[in-house]
Amino acid sequence: MSVILAVESSCDETSVAIVKNRNILSNIIASQIDLHKQYGGVVPELASRQHLEMVNPCIDKALTDSQLSWNDIDAIAGTVTPGLVGSLIVGVTAAKTLAMVHNKPFLGIHHLEGHIYASYLNDPDLEPPFLCLLVSGGHTSLIHVKASGVYENIGSTRDDAAGEAFDKVARLLGLPYPGGPIIDKLAKEGNREAFKLPEGRVSLPNNQGFHPYDSSFSGLKTAMLRLITKLKEENGDNLPIADLCASFQFTVAKALTKRAIRACLDLNLTKIAVGGGVAANSGLRQHLSQEADKHNLQVFFPPLTLCTDNAAMIACAACDHFNHHWRSPLSVGVVSRMNIEEIHKLYDIT
Ligand code: KG4
Ligand code: ZN
Repeated sequence: MSVILAVESSCDETSVAIVKNRNILSNIIASQIDLHKQYGGVVPELASRQHLEMVNPCIDKALTDSQLSWNDIDAIAGTVTPGLVGSLIVGVTAAKTLAMVHNKPFLGIHHLEGHIYASYLNDPDLEPPFLCLLVSGGHTSLIHVKASGVYENIGSTRDDAAGEAFDKVARLLGLPYPGGPIIDKLAKEGNREAFKLPEGRVSLPNNQGFHPYDSSFSGLKTAMLRLITKLKEENGDNLPIADLCASFQFTVAKALTKRAIRACLDLNLTKIAVGGGVAANSGLRQHLSQEADKHNLQVFFPPLTLCTDNAAMIACAACDHFNHHWRSPLSVGVVSRMNIEEIHKLYDIT
């Protein structure tokens, strides 16, 4: 059993957690949503300054809540990629400094790997192989989790990520950032069949049909823009917001579900773990669960607080790597992007 303290600061949540293998001992999340809301999205410079303000209080609170001392911590981890570079630097510098001062090993963690590990925190018996449907503000991917730390990215979005589509469509509807939670709430009152929208299929070259696992959400966003403009011309500003939210959300849920189930069946997998902020979406949770049932597939959704960014999922990934004797050199830097298949580059594997 190993105990890891992790720092997550890749976007607009400063988070510090302490995890013992797959068990959360503390998980402090300082969200910056209120700060960025007034700008309609994350302002990178403000995000890094806010991380700087919040990281030390979060570290103190994580230790206090866990009732542990530095002697009880086996290693320190930090998210090193992907994310906003200025924000990543703040968290990683804090984590590396703690590792040096307390003479502990350091592990740099890939943020998307963290989203995969969020499922283990909720279902400690989950083991690879399984399919991960990773749907966040910056990524939409289907990842074949073959073994611990061994991934194959089998499908992605060609343009906007699913969460980004929620955020952009919310903006078109005059709704606040982040768009996902408010669209989800309004959709509950609407008719999901009210408007027919394009699902965003990606063509294969030479008229060979459509890519089975890739998706595209920019066409759906444009269709929403056209529909909103037309409805405004016909009826003024009195938009059927709930129906628009429900129809948009159902279209996204259908697109993601279809690809995830197809991939699972093609790869002979029986389990789908969903991760990332959009995994919190009630329409996706309902539709995917219902369709997976038809094929006898098991679906794992983390609880809502572990869907969006948090350091517990980062610490959980770090525990697994630490137990396999993976360590990062302190010279490992932060990068805005890295393919999840290449995570071994972050470690001196012994
Ligand atoms: O994973 P996350 O916290 O940050 C990234 O790593 O990107 O995901 C944030 C995204 C935002 O785009 C937000 O609108 C979306 O997750 N989101 C949702 C819901 N809650 C958050 N999207 C749809 N339905 C929700 N309930
Ligand atoms: Zn995330």
